[in-house]
Amino acid sequence: MGGAGRFGGRERSRGGQLTRVALVTGGTSGIGAATAEALQSAGYRVAVNYGSRSQVAEAFTARTGIAAFAWNVADAPACTAGVARVEAALGPVEVLVNNAGITRDAMLHKMSFEQWKEVLDVNLGGCFNMCRAIIGGMRERRFGRIVNIGSVNGLSGQLGQTNYAATKAGLIGFTKSLALEGASRNITANVVAPGYTDTAMVEAVDSEVMARILASIPAGRLATPAEIARSVVFLASDDAGFITGTTLSINGGKYMA
Ligand code: CAA
Repeated sequence: MGGAGRFGGRERSRGGQLTRVALVTGGTSGIGAATAEALQSAGYRVAVNYGSRSQVAEAFTARTGIAAFAWNVADAPACTAGVARVEAALGPVEVLVNNAGITRDAMLHKMSFEQWKEVLDVNLGGCFNMCRAIIGGMRERRFGRIVNIGSVNGLSGQLGQTNYAATKAGLIGFTKSLALEGASRNITANVVAPGYTDTAMVEAVDSEVMARILASIPAGRLATPAEIARSVVFLASDDAGFITGTTLSINGGKYMA
């Protein structure tokens, strides 16, 4: 069967449900990997994008069978070309999870312009570039699910993260606007805002600083990546078709917006 499949990019799975194609950026580790695997378990045909760590990507594909495609989400033409590669391999992308994100933490009085711009370009620019690359097809097919991964720190603010928090807060306004644009075409856009989660990103935080942060989480623990992934699967599902423009916080009570 060709890339597009017999059902406008979907094929019948064993249960008779339409099997959709999902693409997760930054999908070979952490929350992205957990999300890709959860979507696969739910019956989606999944592709992941990654930036540069090809060994991590190869290990991920070997373990899960999920195809991984390299490009920089901060590079708009690379996103267009990357989506075309994914669609040639799997069919039209119907579920997009913008998960790729980086931190360059520093107090503002020590933050360089490069630290500011790098985080803006990947976290917020990457979301624009990816959505811009897929939205035309979703509008034509009159179906789409976009889930943007935000952060508790985009809601609460976080010392040392003026750059990161600005992008994660920015994603919320972006998502609400896209939700308005897509609603009449059955395209939903939502944010999942994780709290501190057991990933390499959080592991990189200084241990003394981390102990203070942990003490501020009412649940007394980090989230697991799987706990975040489950909510993405729900928002991607047909059952969530009337949920759009919302921000779902999953943070153990750290911040209640
Ligand atoms: N709460 C309250 N006060 C804090 C604090 C916290 N979480 N972290 C640091 N401080 C205080 C310090 O005690 C210090 O106070 P004084 O000036 O009175 O001594 C002041 O803030 C500056 O802190 P540092 O000495 O640590 O300053 P630094 O320049 O060496 O480091 C920093 C600054 C790199 C931002 C460091 O504080 C840090 O790594 N903070 C953690 C930032 C963070 O939470 N990042 C999250 C990464 S994971 C992620 O982003 C995923 C997600 O979505 C949740």
